Amino acid sequence: MTFHKLTVPLPSRSYPVYIGSGLTKTGTATEFVPILYGQRGVVVTNTTIAPLYLEQVQEWLRQSGYLSSAIILPDGEEFKNHETLMRLYEDIFKAGLQRNSFICALGGGVIGDLAGYAAATYMRGVDLLQIPTTILAQVDSAIGGKNGVNMGAGKNLVGTTYQPRVVISDVDFISTLSERDVLSGLGEVLKYGLLAGDDFVSFLEMNRKEILAREPRSLATMIHFCSRIKADYVVRDEFDRLGVRAALNLGHTVGHALEKIFAYKRFIHGEAVAIGTVASMVLAHELKLMSDAVLQRALQLFKDFGLPTVIPEEVDVGQLIELMQRDKKAEESLSMVLLHGLGDPHLEKALDPLMLKAVLERCKKSQLEL
Ligand SMILES: NC(=O)c1ccc[n+]([C@@H]2O[C@H](COP(=O)([O-])OP(=O)(O)OC[C@H]3O[C@@H](n4cnc5c(N)ncnc54)[C@H](O)[C@@H]3O)[C@@H](O)[C@H]2O)c1
Repeated sequence: MTFHKLTVPLPSRSYPVYIGSGLTKTGTATEFVPILYGQRGVVVTNTTIAPLYLEQVQEWLRQSGYLSSAIILPDGEEFKNHETLMRLYEDIFKAGLQRNSFICALGGGVIGDLAGYAAATYMRGVDLLQIPTTILAQVDSAIGGKNGVNMGAGKNLVGTTYQPRVVISDVDFISTLSERDVLSGLGEVLKYGLLAGDDFVSFLEMNRKEILAREPRSLATMIHFCSRIKADYVVRDEFDRLGVRAALNLGHTVGHALEKIFAYKRFIHGEAVAIGTVASMVLAHELKLMSDAVLQRALQLFKDFGLPTVIPEEVDVGQLIELMQRDKKAEESLSMVLLHGLGDPHLEKALDPLMLKAVLERCKKSQLEL
């Protein structure tokens, strides 16, 4: 079995990320799970993932001497809230977890965020293992320690930064993911591609068929590439206070506003990010920061991967801009991450709302030439 390994070298806690095929199957937990404080813990997962992978992961942990009980939560973003968290604490308590126990998050970003928050706060913090099962979680949410829950007033308003002991990204999990969730994850992947530059964009262009066919070796290389980028940003700004991580928000200002305008019902995260990333490239091109050739190449990439690229016709662009202004990441003035070229992101502040409105109108289906 071949696998990729990288380290997230944080001063408070350095931890490994493993990426490959068969990582949770082959009786190799001893190779991948670091020595934990205690031998007992819980695996937190949901009703969709449990029948697929729970037994396998519990057995894999057991082979290394780690005993676990399971907590199975309902599936859905709508359950990423305080009620589910309280239920989770109670189930963790009933399972008899102590300060030296561990919590293993087995799932996508929703489970990772909920279980991560519980691990950070139960008895003031227990060992956390992240076993992400979606592309989005493998390339993004499982690395960096951010966790939390949604409130009525907005998404991810409450949470902490608490690093896991290890992240194990077994690409075999991706084989059972729905087509839509694969594409949503690829929305984030393409964003990383544009942030990283020519090498990674070329890799994506050349390996598109294999990636879309979920060929494990291509998936592992792709996820390794993205994980390295994410880890690099995390190391430079662990608590997201220096503005360094702002680049990772490429496509997110428009993306978050689009998710909100449709009350989180029409687009899932990566789809909205894809549309937002395209909009930010059209804007960068309009401002003469990005060349024609780069814009066309990037648009083609999104199109070839089958990602959504246009703002729906019925969107009121004025309302969209208002929501962008309210986005917690947009700060005082209207700002957005724009690419000046592949691999060259900049935070552009004080954008002119009138010009932005005209560009976003052009990003609607009937107007955008792809
Ligand atoms: N903490 C962070 O840094 C961070 C970063 C980005 C996103 N997020 C959060 O991540 C969440 C989105 O994550 P997501 O896209 O992984 O969604 P998700 O966790 O809801 O998973 C998507 C769907 O796929 C199912 N699923 C997961 N793995 C599967 C598998 N291997 N086979 C079959 N089905 C599977 C899930 O049950 C769910 O129905 C959001 O809540 C977002 O706020 C957090």
